[in-house]
Parts: sequence; structure tokens; C-alpha cells
Amino acid sequence: MERIQKVISNLGYASRRHAEELIKDGRVLINDKVAILGSKVKSDDVIKIDGKVLENNQNNEKVYYLLNKPRGVVTTAKDPEGRKTVVDIIDDPRRIYPVGRLDYDTTGVLLLTNDGELTNKLTHPKNNIDKVYLAKIKGVITGSDIFKLKNGVIIDSKMTSASRVKLKSYNKKNNTSLVEITIHEGRNHQVKKMFQVLGYDVIKLSRIRFAFLDVKDLKSGEYRTLTVKEIKKLYSLGE
Ligand code: URA
Repeated sequence: MERIQKVISNLGYASRRHAEELIKDGRVLINDKVAILGSKVKSDDVIKIDGKVLENNQNNEKVYYLLNKPRGVVTTAKDPEGRKTVVDIIDDPRRIYPVGRLDYDTTGVLLLTNDGELTNKLTHPKNNIDKVYLAKIKGVITGSDIFKLKNGVIIDSKMTSASRVKLKSYNKKNNTSLVEITIHEGRNHQVKKMFQVLGYDVIKLSRIRFAFLDVKDLKSGEYRTLTVKEIKKLYSLGE
């Protein structure tokens, strides 16, 4: 028996806080009775949110995949426009979903799982998980702009948190720079917007590390399962 807010969050439907709001708003039913905070649920209870049945796969085995995301696939479980998704790449019939999001044209490290608890942990900014990106940008970046990126810039009316930034190389002839940036939030198009507010367009973007995981041993589009040691290590991160 688990508390309803924990079950909703573990299933990856919502964060614990959001689940609590849904319950308080009376939008959650257990066997067609309105749930209250702390209601206990069994694995065969039917949970509905806004009238839709939540797939209660508490007993399902958890799976964890590390994908080297190629360009030209969407990071979602289902694309309304019918484009190929990262979930389509993984040969597993279970309902899995990506941990966080990479843009259509961004490549690199992406985790996929059906473990909502771990997903919530890894995507919550308070846990400060490293997300390391390599960005090829138009223009030769200045020292003062690197300083600004490190200290935070305003995107979508909100300051970004501190990041690590390293200029890896620049090409004066082509007027491009290769910059490694480590962020801890996962805001929409965050890296592209951070460069854009300083006047640099991102030409190519790749996530080269997520926490301690990289995809050096995987070709573009290849994936592997995580080891038990890696899963335990991910669980030990943050608070
Ligand atoms: N920041 C972006 O702008 N795009 C991504 O895909 C990831 C981070």
C-alpha cells in the first residue's frame, strides 16, 4: 500500500507537489471515489486523473536506457505530428519516457526509463545534476560574455543559475567557437537561449554528459541498458 501522491509521482505522471495539488483540487479518483491526501492505494486499484485512467504499473519491472540521441527525432513519448520519437528507437514494449528533453536537432546523452521516482529526482533543479553541453556557436565569444554566462543571464524573464563555461576552441576564419557549458536546470531551449541573449546563434548542440554518464561508447542512435551500479549511483545523487 502506497500513498496516492507517491504513486502518482512514481508513475512519472507528475511531481510530488503537483500530485498533491491535483488531489486537493479533487481531480483524482481511486476506484471512482475522490481521493484525499494520504489515501492508500493497492496495485489493483484504479486511479483516474481528470477522468482518465492512470496506468498503474507499480508492479512493473523498472527499466533504464542510455541513448545517444541522433539529430531529427523528438524527445517525447508520442508526437502529435507523427514524427519519429526517442521512444520509437528503443526496442521495448513497456511505457517508457525520456528524462528531461533534448531539442529535435540536439544530439547526445539521453536517459529513458519507466521509473518516475528517479525521473523526478534527476529533473528537479534542487538536485543540481550536471548537464554538460558542447555548443558550436556563430561568432568568436568574448571573455566578458563567458563571464556573463557563468554568472547567469536572463532568459524568459528569469536569471539562469550559475554554470561552468569553457572555451574549447575558436575558428576566426569561419567565425565560430566551440564552447562547453555545464548547467543544472532544464529550462526550455536553455542553452540556445543563453547564447542567443548575448547575440550568438547556436549552430550545433550536443549533450556530452548527464550526471556521470556519457555516450562515448555508443554511436549515434545506439543505446544500452544502465548497470545496477549506475542506477544506484544515480539514486545517490542530490538530496
Ligand atoms: N538547451 C537547448 O537549447 N537545447 C537542448 O536540446 C538542450 C538544452
